[in-house]
Amino acid sequence: MIKGIVVGLSGASGLIYGLKFIEALCSLKKEGVVGEAYVVYTSGALNVAKYEVGGDLVELLSGYECLNGVYSDSDWSSPLASSSNTVEFTGVVAPCSMDVVANLANGIQHRLLERVMYNVVRTGRKLILVIRETPLTTIDLENMLKLSRMGVTIAPASPGFYLNPKTIDDLVNFMTWKILDLIGAEYKHPRWSSQNKNNRENK
Ligand SMILES: Cc1cc2nc3c(=O)[nH]c(=O)nc-3n(C[C@H](O)[C@H](O)[C@H](O)COP(=O)(O)O)c2cc1C
Repeated sequence: MIKGIVVGLSGASGLIYGLKFIEALCSLKKEGVVGEAYVVYTSGALNVAKYEVGGDLVELLSGYECLNGVYSDSDWSSPLASSSNTVEFTGVVAPCSMDVVANLANGIQHRLLERVMYNVVRTGRKLILVIRETPLTTIDLENMLKLSRMGVTIAPASPGFYLNPKTIDDLVNFMTWKILDLIGAEYKHPRWSSQNKNNRENK
């Protein structure tokens, strides 16, 4: 069982990656695979939500009843601010902006999201950053290298096409499954096999 997961939503494009992952998390909670699930969102995420998910992110998040807590990046009353409450927690930032990458790579924790994710790293737990930006600068790449050397998993939001996606949902699901694999959740989903080629030819 995974004790707890904190999902960070930041101001990169692709909020749908985070929202789909939260949906999957709710199923895993129901099945007893995950104990607790929390969300921390940044002001950047609130802004991007206006363009990508039709407006009010906080209202949208209130629809996920499985969540144990939803916090803004300035909510320092959150229990997540202290690593004493997040021992054995896994962190997933999806989507992850270059701003968050830069902050984490430099130990900057003036917002709750970075504080929580830094706690996850400090206590030797798994942190997965689903980064989204293109192209990348040397600074972005160096920041990610720094984080990678600290054991952070850099998982670019770059879905594969070998499962023959037909819809945006198919592409987003690919990333959701990838993250579920990375957090170590047992989750049945399509995987690559040479059969995929035949599937396409048969359609
Ligand atoms: C519509 C929109 C899309 C954006 N997409 C990205 C992106 O894919 N990656 C990124 O690093 N920043 C992106 N940005 C810029 C960030 O939102 C901006 O740098 C912000 O300050 C980061 O906020 P955060 O620290 O809360 O993530 C985007 C901004 C907007 C308005």
